[in-house]
Parts: sequence; C-alpha cells; structure tokens
Amino acid sequence: MSTSTAATAVGIHDLSFATTEFVLPHTALAEHNGTPVGKYHVGIGQRSMSVPAADEDIVTLGAAAAAPVVARHGADGIRTLVFATESSIDQAKAAGVYVHSLLGLPSATRVVELKQACYGATAALQFALGLIHRDPSQKVLVVASDVSRYELDSPGEATQGAAAVAMLVTADPALVRIEEPSGLFTADVMDFWRPNYRDAALVDGQESIGAYLQAVRGTWKDYGEQGGRPLEAFSAFCYHQPFTRMAYKAHRHLLNSAGYDTDEAAVQGALGLTTAYNEVIGNSYTASVYLGLAALLDQAEDLGGRAVGFLSYGSGSVAEFFAGTVAPGYRAHLRTAQHRAAVERRRPIGYARYRELHGASLPTDGGDHPSPEETTGPFRLAGINGHKRRYEKR
Ligand code: HMG
Repeated sequence: MSTSTAATAVGIHDLSFATTEFVLPHTALAEHNGTPVGKYHVGIGQRSMSVPAADEDIVTLGAAAAAPVVARHGADGIRTLVFATESSIDQAKAAGVYVHSLLGLPSATRVVELKQACYGATAALQFALGLIHRDPSQKVLVVASDVSRYELDSPGEATQGAAAVAMLVTADPALVRIEEPSGLFTADVMDFWRPNYRDAALVDGQESIGAYLQAVRGTWKDYGEQGGRPLEAFSAFCYHQPFTRMAYKAHRHLLNSAGYDTDEAAVQGALGLTTAYNEVIGNSYTASVYLGLAALLDQAEDLGGRAVGFLSYGSGSVAEFFAGTVAPGYRAHLRTAQHRAAVERRRPIGYARYRELHGASLPTDGGDHPSPEETTGPFRLAGINGHKRRYEKR
C-alpha cells in the first residue's frame, strides 16, 4: 500500500460502454401513436432507443461494458467493484457480484450496489476517488448499468433506453482527472420514482424538468461557494441526459442563473459533441452522463489539459456538479471504434416486437425457465431456475 498525497491526481483511467441487442427508431413510435416525429427528433432530441433482448439485463450489459476494461488492464489492483443502478434485479444481492463472477475477478474484492436514481454512478465515482486517495495503488471498477422503463403509451415512453458504462478509476488517470470541489444539492421531491412493486417508473414529466433545473441552480451555487472554477474555465459540459434537449435546457438555465447570456452558438459549442450517443441510445439513467463524456472524448479535437464540467442529476433528488481536466495524450486510450460498433450492431425492431419485449417479465413461480436465445453479445441471461438468475459467458 502506498500513501496518498494532496497532489495525487485521481480520475477515470479507462471508459467503455455497451448497449443492447435491439433498437427502436422514434419514427416507429411516432407512427404507432400519431405523434409528429419532429416532437421526438427536435422537441426532445431523440432519434432511437436501445431495447434489451429477452436474455439481456443490467448484469449482461454491465459485464459487456466492463470486460474490455479488464481485458486491457488485467484485474491486478482492482479491489473494489461498485455497481450503480436504479433498475436493480434483486433487493439484497448486488448485481455487481454476478459481474465480478462473469469477469473472473479475484475473490479478494469488495463488491457493492449503489442507488440514488440517475445520480448513483457519480456517487460510485466519488467513493472510488476517496478509496484511491487513501491507497493510490488500488483501482476501482465502477459499473453503471440501467434499463429505463416507463408505461407504454405514456409521455415518458419516448425517453426510454438502456446502456452500461464501465470506468476504471485510478491514480494518474489516462483520460480525466477529477477535481475537487464538488457542488452538491439534495431536495425531497417526488418528480420520478419507482416503488419496489413496479417495473416501470412513475413520473411527473414537467415537475421532473423543474426539479432538474432547480438542482442545476443549487449545485452551481454550492460549487461557487466551495471555491470552484468560473464558468468560462470550462471547454464543455456533460449533463445527465434523460433526453438530449434536457442538457440544453439545463445549460441555458445554468448560464441565466449565473448571470451569463445564453448565446446559442456558445451553448452548442459547450454541449454539441456530448449528445451523440444519448440521442440514439435514449435514457440510460446512471450511465447517461458518462455516455455524454464518451461522446465528447470520442469526437472532439484534442481536449488535453482542458476542463470539462459534469452535472449529474438523479430524481428524488440528488445532484452534483464537478470538474475534470482531460489528461494530455488521452486520445491514445479511447475506445471510439468499439463505442461506434456497440451502437451500430443493434438490430432495429418494429413497434409490435418492442411492445412484446416491454410487456415480458421473468416468471416468478420458482420453476426452470430458460430464456430465448436472442442476444449476440458476450454475456446472456440463460434463464431463471429456483428464483436464481443464471448467466452465461459466450
Ligand atoms: P411531453 O409532455 O409529451 O412533451 O413529454 P412536451 O409537450 O413537453 O413536448 C416536448 C418538447 O417538444 C417541447 O419543447 C415541445 O414544444 C416540443 P420545449 O417546450 O420543452 O422546448 N415539440 C415539438 N418540437 C418540434 N416539432 C413538434 C413538436 N411538438 C412538441 N412537432 C417529457 C416530455 C420529457 C415530459 C416526457 O417525455 C417525460 O415525462 N419523460 C420522462 C421524465 C424525464 O425525462 N424528465 C427529465 C428530467 S428528470 C431526470 O432527468 C431524471 C430521470 O433521468 C430519472 C432518474 O433520475 O432516475 C428521468
């Protein structure tokens, strides 16, 4: 074990994402419900959403995101795996334990699941940074994985999606050094929630947008009070993107409440590259803000040495604003081709098939129920037997 010093740079050393087997274009949803497609493409800024196959879930997605990270760096030094999700599959056992097993990580690992709506991955990242400050020789694998589900034929239906992001958090990171301070905000609001007995979230759409904006104001105020950077120090901003237009609403709100003009070219410059993955994947809850980072790093000209702002929002609500400095030379460590392939390999499905998948749920009778073999991904949910999920590595 080595000892941390105040100067230890800690942050994201590697980032990899995975998404589902299927994709539903918003044109199909618009055709089904008679909505002008402009409402989706322009109004909320979404073009398609990832739909899990019957043999995919947060574990298979999380393992698929994390496997390339472990393949590149090995498991040495990974002593903690934090799994962030709000679409948990078990009230007791952490989904990360299945991922730990599928990845063949050593038994000398602590594994835990964290929840606070879409904010969970940022909590996981902050916990990881704390552990590494304590012992910079350790690495923490953060996995954020979610399947977003709203009721069929509800306004939220157009803002579903699914994906997982895996981040290896280390000292002297190759991608992004995460800085202190953070701006924090918590408010007890019922904008979006999912009681334990429900598969789909309950949401008050307009209230949730207002609650998000209130949290933007609150985190930025606290960030300033804690001695954070001025707004003009940032080259780009990665927001939680339940739908990509929300990032624009949030950034304009931040600028207004901080007393800046909302020059549209500047807003576009600050956000434009962060939405590419989210607009075709949809809301991936905990993973969303880090898909924004992936899109930014994969597409931008050299950002080495530049500051990026992160705004993580989780309904209910908890939010955090923090800064990261992009590491010089980061471009050699990106997974741009893998990320594009993850998006492009999805098979388009029609509305009827999507509706069938949406309505399906695992049998609860304790019997032996193999899953239909649908996914072509590296891991699959093989079935459920005696109330136990069985996973397979391909
Ligand atoms: P809605 O109420 O049906 O839509 O659902 P709307 O009427 O507000 O229209 C949306 C936008 O499209 C509007 O633009 C319209 O003008 C525009 P805005 O006024 O907002 O700028 N529009 C059009 N534009 C072009 N051509 C057209 C057209 N028609 C309309 N023809 C809503 C929208 C987001 C409320 C709904 O999808 C929903 O409830 N989604 C789920 C909740 C959500 O995503 N909330 C976001 C904030 S909360 C959050 O981020 C946390 C979350 O991720 C959960 C977590 O933390 O775990 C959700």
